[in-house]
Amino acid sequence: PRKNLTTSNHLRHVESMAHLPSGAGRITRLNALILGEALASEEDDLVFPSEDFSSQSHVSSPQKYLEMYQRSVHDPSGFWSDIASEFYWREKWGQQVYHENFDVRKGKIKIEWFKGGMTNICYNCLDRNIESGKGDKTAIYWEGNEPGLDSSMTYNQLLARVCQLANYLKDVGVHKGDAVVIYLPMLMELPIAMLACARIGAIHSVVFAGFSAESLAQRIIDCRPKVVITCNAVRRGSKIIYLKEIVDSALLESAQKGIVTDVCLTYENDSAMKKEMTKWTKGRDIWWQDVILKYPVTCDVEWVDAEDPLFLLYTSGSTGKPKGVLHTTGGYMVYTATTFKYAFDYKPTDIYWCTADCGWITGHSYVTYGPLLNGATVVVFEGAPNYPDVGRCWDIVDKYKVSIFYTAPTLVRSLMREGDEHVSRYSRKSLRVLGSVGEPINPSAWRWFFNVIGDARCPISDTWWQTETGGFMITPLPGAWPQKPGSATFPFFGVQPVIVDEKGVEIEGECSGYLCVKSSWPGAFRTLHGDHERYETTYFSAFPGYYFSGDGCSRDKDGYYWLTGRVDDVINVSGHRIGTAEVESALVSHPQCAEAAVVGVEHEVKGQGIYAFVTLVEGVPYSDDLRKSLVMVVRNQIGAFAAPDKIHWAPGLPKTRSGKIMRRILRKIASRQLDELGDTSTLADPTVVDQLIALADC
Ligand code: PRX
Repeated sequence: PRKNLTTSNHLRHVESMAHLPSGAGRITRLNALILGEALASEEDDLVFPSEDFSSQSHVSSPQKYLEMYQRSVHDPSGFWSDIASEFYWREKWGQQVYHENFDVRKGKIKIEWFKGGMTNICYNCLDRNIESGKGDKTAIYWEGNEPGLDSSMTYNQLLARVCQLANYLKDVGVHKGDAVVIYLPMLMELPIAMLACARIGAIHSVVFAGFSAESLAQRIIDCRPKVVITCNAVRRGSKIIYLKEIVDSALLESAQKGIVTDVCLTYENDSAMKKEMTKWTKGRDIWWQDVILKYPVTCDVEWVDAEDPLFLLYTSGSTGKPKGVLHTTGGYMVYTATTFKYAFDYKPTDIYWCTADCGWITGHSYVTYGPLLNGATVVVFEGAPNYPDVGRCWDIVDKYKVSIFYTAPTLVRSLMREGDEHVSRYSRKSLRVLGSVGEPINPSAWRWFFNVIGDARCPISDTWWQTETGGFMITPLPGAWPQKPGSATFPFFGVQPVIVDEKGVEIEGECSGYLCVKSSWPGAFRTLHGDHERYETTYFSAFPGYYFSGDGCSRDKDGYYWLTGRVDDVINVSGHRIGTAEVESALVSHPQCAEAAVVGVEHEVKGQGIYAFVTLVEGVPYSDDLRKSLVMVVRNQIGAFAAPDKIHWAPGLPKTRSGKIMRRILRKIASRQLDELGDTSTLADPTVVDQLIALADC
């Protein structure tokens, strides 16, 4: 049974918002913001959508949201089955729309949505849209790294390409339930490969092409793919990255551990590297272009149960081993499509661009599945946002007439530093809705995004969610209510967030605490690959009865949610999730490193930076070369995006008498809050703190 909702805080607050002023009041408030007038506090800032925007939006008022929200939580079966019925199901789901045990005290955690329903997400993305007349609509505009290098594909063409690859995969022995690892940059072939796997019921596991060979090998060993799909090389900005070589080393490493991959399908990305230059393992490596075109452009669909796995995506946790987050088909399909439609107020005429890479969850749910399920036109960008110059994003926006632009705060902050002139020389008048994801967006970046990029015209959907949640959890609905810069506002339909204290007790009203969710939603992950126990202990045991997000959160007097960042040992660097333990284990693998402790530290552009305290092996002197080789070891083992920003030499680390590192103290030293070190008397050796402070700027 669902928990009682009558005490839900945000509902009361949204109800009171229904009486917020309209008309002139709104404009005055907005003017104050545009003029940069100081307002009483961040929480008092209200930025209203225009009357015009609201009146044309899917959810045009707090009242309408409330009606829908109430239904979604009081009658989830009715609410979600009405939406699910808009998709194609070969067979309808069983009597029970969903089934959940969300409470570890009552047994195994189990979440099922639409069980018994037979469907296929690729069919729903492509064939269903084509059957309803969208065959000639552009599905993907692809923009290459070099300006001028581009192409596009209609829904018909996309289906044909997906079917050819699906037929090939079947031919080389990939069956329903088999894993396929995809290690590709943002070529059209990346979403094509995901969809081809989904079409035949294979489980894709996309590995971000910025991960190192060791990280890729670790994932290959965990999910044992039949096929790895990659390309020979990619240009990113002015650099060339030789992806196939990384895959070669990863396949060598995994083969040494007994995991042999039969096929490495390699796309020739000839704008970066010619075929002839690529190292080749005969019998295993196959050129994509040599085989795929020979296959038929139609391919029967494998109908799968709603609860059959769709993909595995590895993400960082508080231990060194990445977690294989498993998403299933039906609930994920319904949830990503619905969140996309409402949070971006999607209309069929929109051109949508999400700057995320398909190697992360954002690229799964909101480059590939969510938009294509809605029959949208999606921009896929291979390059870097500052190449050839920092106006590239707005050049792309103008070129394709992008109307919905979804990105990460780190990009907003980095472009903000470059000055408004790189923005104002582009029109950007096609923009209608902006989106933010991956980390908290600070109010000043929010305002710049709103005022400068969006010309104070486009609402910002600051979407809070996670790899685990599959889709948006707390997000503005852009036409429904005023926004507050820096707040993700209110929960999406069907989501019941709660803030709990350290004992796991729900806190009411204005408060701060740990963000949890109290019942399932269709897009929730179902397990961690091969480790259901870790799934239960990591997410459901800290606060029994709830899903624990790992994030801190506060709720203001108006009921708006403000995410405050991770409360566990995870660092969020430029919206990328990195476990401190992963970086530490890479550092200590260096022969001259005895011990390492990593903490996150505030970073002007990246949100958080990686700060590593390193103790060297007895007798080894520290040097700049050693510093570089320590950074290199992290780049090689995880990827360049996890390289520490600072290495702090540590003759010793602050430990309790039982040997536990006191990270609280390290965080204070890292952020130079030296007068807030707190009690250090419980340390085994309090003098290490003074040593660390003395070495802070070495
Ligand atoms: O800390 C939160 C932060 O990103 C974490 C999830 O990371 P990941 O699974 O890699 O997914 C990123 C894309 C969804 C969260 O635990 N986070 C994500 N979105 C926001 C955010 N923090 C604040 N505001 C957001 N909008």
